[in-house]
Amino acid sequence: MDNSSIVSVNDLSKQDILDLMADAAYFEEHPDSRILDGKIVATLFFEPSTRTRLSFETAVNRLGGRVIGFSDPAATSTSKGETLKDTIKMVSNYVDLIVMRHYLEGAARYASEVTETPIINAGDGAHQHPSQTMLDIYSIYKTQGRLDDLTITMVGDLKYGRTVHSLLMAMSHFRVKFIFVACPELQMPEEFIAFCRKNDIPFEVSEEFSREIIDRSDIIYMTRVQRERFTDLMEYERVKDLYNLENRMLDTSRPNLRILHPLPRVNEISQDVDDNPKAYYFQQAKNGVYARQAMICRALGIKDFKEGK
Ligand code: CP
Repeated sequence: MDNSSIVSVNDLSKQDILDLMADAAYFEEHPDSRILDGKIVATLFFEPSTRTRLSFETAVNRLGGRVIGFSDPAATSTSKGETLKDTIKMVSNYVDLIVMRHYLEGAARYASEVTETPIINAGDGAHQHPSQTMLDIYSIYKTQGRLDDLTITMVGDLKYGRTVHSLLMAMSHFRVKFIFVACPELQMPEEFIAFCRKNDIPFEVSEEFSREIIDRSDIIYMTRVQRERFTDLMEYERVKDLYNLENRMLDTSRPNLRILHPLPRVNEISQDVDDNPKAYYFQQAKNGVYARQAMICRALGIKDFKEGK
């Protein structure tokens, strides 16, 4: 694998994460430049996306690079039976960096093993979503002023939600407590529970999304129940509406509480929360441009881009 690929948050050390946060803060102050002049980035999306693809493309455009790619694999030779390996090898002939989303867990890792061109994983099945994690951590830092001594409550689909899996792993470098709120069918997978136990990361598991839990939280990370990951749609129907955050539930919450959501939402956050100053999900998505600018530069090995350096 090319060392500059970012396919999992497990590839990033605590210092890598802190460096990426510092670079994201720089790009928030200086979003437009010619840092990527002459560079071409491919965005290959084998699964639907709004935010991730468009914010990666915005990030490249604002840095003066160019973008090629697709958002509908049905319009590519994949529909004629071309393998992922061949697609990646072909696109590598054209570009300096590949950003890819795929429905198969491990697809980005596999891609990084068949090409020298750096890969950024934009989501692989229910596995990981490292660029979402970087913008999540940047959002946590911006709203809390720190990454330690926080209680992070994750709510909803903790089984299939790749964003919560990545966030848990990345935040394990910091002093945090997790509260996992989900029904038994969608609880945090055992491998992550075992990871917390092994690394002495404090956590609680709850089936109830109670006011008491809300009032102890610094971050509430809501998630959508991922219909597309269910093989049994009857089971999806049974669990899809179990957790819903309403504005009245926030009445006695901490002043510093912020509500995050990777989006898209379906109905797990009521529209009446949107005007609450504690709702942060739209700003969170905007932070994605800056976090992804930082990740693109890292994957391309571009350093010393800060003005005055
Ligand atoms: N958060 C996220 O991955 O959104 P999209 O599916 O719209 O890219």
